[in-house]
Amino acid sequence: MHPAVLLLSLASAAVADPGCIPRTSASQGFRLIVNVTDPSKDFSPSINGQQFTNAHIGPSQNRGIVVPSAGAVFYQNGTYADIDKHTLQIINDAGSAPGVFPQTVTYQQESVDTFGQGLYINGGALSGGVALSRLADPYSYLSILEGVVSSTLVVCSQTIPYYGDDRKFNVVNWVQATRDSSGTSVKVPEGCAPINLVAECAELAPLPEGAYSSHEFAQEVRCYEKVADIDWSKYSF
Ligand SMILES: *[C@@H]1O[C@H](CO)[C@@H](O)[C@H](O)[C@H]1NC(C)=O
Ligand SMILES: *[C@@H]1O[C@H](CO)[C@@H](O)[C@H](O)[C@H]1NC(C)=O
Repeated sequence: MHPAVLLLSLASAAVADPGCIPRTSASQGFRLIVNVTDPSKDFSPSINGQQFTNAHIGPSQNRGIVVPSAGAVFYQNGTYADIDKHTLQIINDAGSAPGVFPQTVTYQQESVDTFGQGLYINGGALSGGVALSRLADPYSYLSILEGVVSSTLVVCSQTIPYYGDDRKFNVVNWVQATRDSSGTSVKVPEGCAPINLVAECAELAPLPEGAYSSHEFAQEVRCYEKVADIDWSKYSF
């Protein structure tokens, strides 16, 4: 079979041929690594390979940002039933021993401002509404779950009120698709780059005695050993 024909039939059947997708490993812990999905919108210097983490904005409240290195380690929490019910959480353990506590990645349906809507990492057991993409998806990355037809994450260079007007962060937002006569489309705000946050395997640090967090329901997830080493042009979906 001609390679192009083969690719086409794979794509239309939405079947992931292990030979045609980047190889994944399994791990409980992972970092979330920026992959700019439209390279023409990338920043200069590039934000490809940057890592998702917290910017503190108040008690148990953090804005999701990306930084060049040392991003937060996350795990996906839930039972098998939670996978079916879309009730998983993406959690990061915060605080210092022994009082380590869970913070959950969550999105807020805010009034849409010019940069889209916010992604937060807030304290407590929340229904975050985000999880890693399902097995049927060829890639493993953070996706918004509940009732959202189609959306994309974006990184925008913007201020965060808590830090005043002088300091800009690479803030992670999400943009929901809009529907009109020509179909469904996602409009990336001016000055923002559309991204995926791709799972890179990382060690999940064991919890200290007496922690508020628990790893009892931390799932083994699909993750890549090194996202930066993936040559996406070899894969077409
Ligand atoms: C990563 O970005 C490239 C474009 O630079 C795109 O072709 C590829 O599908 C993206 N992969 C994921 C998992 O976002
Ligand atoms: C983790 O998942 C379990 C099982 O669904 C649930 O009982 C627990 O509250 C979750 N933890 C957090 C911090 O959301």
